[in-house]
Amino acid sequence: DVADIAQHASTGALPARLAETVAAAYERYAGLDEGVVADYIPILAEADPAHFGLVVAQVDGAVHRAGDAGVAFSIQSISKAFVFALVCEAIGHEAVHETVGVNNTGLPFNSVMAIELNGGSPMNPMVNAGAIATTALVPAATPAEQWELVRTGLSAFAGRELALDGEVYRSEVETNQRNQAIGRLLQSYGRLDADPLAVVDVYTKQCALSVTAEDLAVMGATLADGGVNPVTGARVVSAEVCRDTLALLASCGMYERSGEWLFEIGLPAKSGVAGGIVAVAPGKGAVGAYSPRLDPAGNSVRGQRACAYLSRALGLNLF
Ligand code: DON
Repeated sequence: DVADIAQHASTGALPARLAETVAAAYERYAGLDEGVVADYIPILAEADPAHFGLVVAQVDGAVHRAGDAGVAFSIQSISKAFVFALVCEAIGHEAVHETVGVNNTGLPFNSVMAIELNGGSPMNPMVNAGAIATTALVPAATPAEQWELVRTGLSAFAGRELALDGEVYRSEVETNQRNQAIGRLLQSYGRLDADPLAVVDVYTKQCALSVTAEDLAVMGATLADGGVNPVTGARVVSAEVCRDTLALLASCGMYERSGEWLFEIGLPAKSGVAGGIVAVAPGKGAVGAYSPRLDPAGNSVRGQRACAYLSRALGLNLF
């Protein structure tokens, strides 16, 4: 689909005329209506399938917006990347490797079989099991304090105060039995040193944080910028933690489609079932996209296409 776009080589700097390229990517896919809005969390089915927002944030702080850049949606699985970064900052590279794991499961994000096939290991922090295990490691005395650390940490990545979408949270609480089962299963394997239901509740809240495509772009640009938010100038995590997080996003961020994604687009990225995607070009910036129609793996259709377009047109592919 993007074969007609010249594949530019990756260079040190983003080209000029970036705003026009973002607008062109938006125009190209604005009319595409492939994919279906997620409904396994009932409230997500109410999203407007027409919404499409596309934003590029650069490491110099410039932000280019197209379409519904400011429409709010729940961050969902994209939170996993940033909670992982906060936990990695707190417990370090080795502990993450040993406790959560860093390899792709090759199976869907909510797979129970992946845990069973791997001796109880959550495998990586980007699937539900690994994200629940990661949230359990947020260094605070109580679940309420863990939640506040997560919310303020993700707000620092976004450069503004993020808040819970209470409606999404309540909808997910009512349908969260599978994640609770995953929590119990991890506990049964001695992989969760906390109350599974309390941890899953914090995980559910982190998924229900309300963000925009612009927030995702700035959050991603903070990872691209070695841990400094390029809009606020605040350091959020270390450069080493950004490297670890981007490695995980490259291998596991798009679930069982991560190989195809790297092959076509060549950037570390993370998707969420509400329709968000963040794709990070280290040293350059990040793309934040929102469009709620998903493919069968749970990745936004227009978000993926727009990222592919921008990767080719801007020479973002790492390889
Ligand atoms: O735990 C869940 O199933 C959701 N809160 C998040 C899943 C998700 O976003 C998967 N992404 N594509």
